[in-house]
Amino acid sequence: MHIRILGSAAGGGFPQWNCNCPMCDGVRKGTVKARPRTQSSIAVSGDGERWVLFNASPDVLQQIRSFPALQPARALRDTGIEAIVLIDAQIDHTTGLYMLREHRRPLALWCTRQVREDLTAGNPILNVLAHYAGIDWHELPISGAGFEIPGIAGLTFEALPLISNAPPYSPHRDRPEPGDNVGITITDRASGQRLFYAPGLGEMEPHVWAAMQAADCVLVDGTLWTDDEMIRLGASKKTSRAMGHLPQSGEGGMLEWLGELPAATRKVLIHINNTNPILDEDSPERAELTARGVEVSYDGMEITL
Ligand code: MLT
Ligand code: MN
Ligand code: ZN
Repeated sequence: MHIRILGSAAGGGFPQWNCNCPMCDGVRKGTVKARPRTQSSIAVSGDGERWVLFNASPDVLQQIRSFPALQPARALRDTGIEAIVLIDAQIDHTTGLYMLREHRRPLALWCTRQVREDLTAGNPILNVLAHYAGIDWHELPISGAGFEIPGIAGLTFEALPLISNAPPYSPHRDRPEPGDNVGITITDRASGQRLFYAPGLGEMEPHVWAAMQAADCVLVDGTLWTDDEMIRLGASKKTSRAMGHLPQSGEGGMLEWLGELPAATRKVLIHINNTNPILDEDSPERAELTARGVEVSYDGMEITL
């Protein structure tokens, strides 16, 4: 299985257009050792030719340009993207659908009923797209049953409901309903290797923990370092947990959980908010991750399982 990190930042990207927090200001001025990052998306393939796009980032055009495998140039109009899976209905995961409107056939889109509702009511992207390529909707099963995606060789997918948060334009904002957010296990049937992907993860429910324990690589929520990070900066009134993201540090934080996984499990953080000190490669927080064997994903990173 080939995994390409297209965008490793959370909503807003890094640096965020209007932000002058220490990380955004530092990366702009070159005073902090950090890589700029685009918004949250990965591409996964069994054969290296036909890819599933997980989330359609506002930065998808830049991401496609930076990864030629997604533009194989076999015809006048062509793409290596066979299907798109949405893990939630947030802006940073869905706005890129607009940029894919020139597709020659309806976009094969896998998402839950709840996400589809948010994208036809609160933020009616799918209605607008009906005037362009249109959508070929497949309901993402959250029963835990494995499914295959037509055109994607060698991979089996399993989606599980998890607690994060629905977007502000959803009737389920702050009132989570199963299907608002999912995590995905992808298994390479030939190697038996498994990836668990969850860029938004607000609570470690037993079934989520079981999926992480069963994976060879976890690519999980790295949004914020501390629960009150945004509050202390004066950037938001909400804690990390209230936004649906388990902070890395502190009791019950992501690092404690990752520390319980086997040493052989590859542990990678993704969906990193621009305020997070782990973006600074020289920070003590980054050194702590390195000491714990936890990696920080970056745009262009490739993982082979
Ligand atoms: C989130 O995951 O909370 C989002 O990144 C928020 C956003 O896109 O505005
Ligand atoms: Mn997000
Ligand atoms: Zn910032």
